[in-house]
Amino acid sequence: MKHGKKVLALLVCVAMTAVLAVGCGGSSKSALDEIKEKGQLVWGTNAQFPPFESKDGSGNVVGVDADIAKAIADDLGVELVVEDMEFDSLPAALKSGKIDIIGAGYTENEERLQEMDFSNKYFTAEQIVVVKAGNTSITDKESLKGKKIGVQTGTTGDLECASKIEGAEVNRYDSMQLACEDVKNGKLDCVIGDNLTIGFILNKMNGELVKVEGISYDSEEYGFAVVKGETELLDEVNKVIDELVQNGEIDKMVDKYNVGE
Ligand code: ARG
Repeated sequence: MKHGKKVLALLVCVAMTAVLAVGCGGSSKSALDEIKEKGQLVWGTNAQFPPFESKDGSGNVVGVDADIAKAIADDLGVELVVEDMEFDSLPAALKSGKIDIIGAGYTENEERLQEMDFSNKYFTAEQIVVVKAGNTSITDKESLKGKKIGVQTGTTGDLECASKIEGAEVNRYDSMQLACEDVKNGKLDCVIGDNLTIGFILNKMNGELVKVEGISYDSEEYGFAVVKGETELLDEVNKVIDELVQNGEIDKMVDKYNVGE
C-alpha cells in the first residue's frame, strides 16, 4: 500500500513535468528553427511602395526591402519566398504564421510594438502632404481641417496623421499611387504618405502634384518585424541589417531603386 502510493506520487510528478514542459513551449520550435527546417524564409510585404518594394515588368518584387530580405535569406542559407498582400493584412499574416517576417517600409510605432518585435532600423522617413499644382487652399496643418485626404489604408499617414485631423474626410486606398491619381483628377484635396514613395510617384507625374512645404511631421524609422519573442530570428535579422547599414549597402540600394522616370 505504502509502495503503491509512492508510485502514484511519482507518476503524478512525471505527468505534471510533461504538462509544464509543453505548456511553457518546451516542445515547440523557434521561428528560426522552423525557417531552417523548411528551407524557406517567407517575407510578407505590399509591393506598392517604390523604391522599397514594387513589381518589375516580369512581376518580380524588387526594391530595397527585397534586397534586404534576400540578404537575410542568403545569410540563413534558405530560399526567399515573397508573399505580396494588402498592407493592412500584414500583422495578422505574421501572427498566424503565414509569413515569417514583415518588410514593407514598415515604421516602428507604439501600437505595432504591442503586437510584434522590430529589428534595428535602416531608413528614416517622414510623412509629407501633396496637392495638385496650383492648389493654394492647403498651406499649413490648420488648413488640413475638413479636407478630403487620401492615404494608403493602415499606414502611419492614415493612422497617425490623416485620422487625427479634425473634420477631415479620410479616403483609404490600396496604394499611395491610386490616392495620388485621385488628387490629380480632383477627387481629393491632398494625399499624406511617406516621402520617398510619394516623391517617386510625383516624379512620374511631371509636376502635376506638388509637396506642401509648410507642413511637416516627426520623422519615423523603418525596420523589419518578427513575431513577438522570436529573439533568435530577430538577432539574425539585426545582424544582417546592421551590416548593410554600416557598409553603405542600404544607401546604394536606395540610389539604385529610387529612379522615378
Ligand atoms: N511607413 C508607413 C507605415 O509603416 C507606410 C508603409 C507602406 N508600405 C508598403 N509596402 N505599402 O505605415
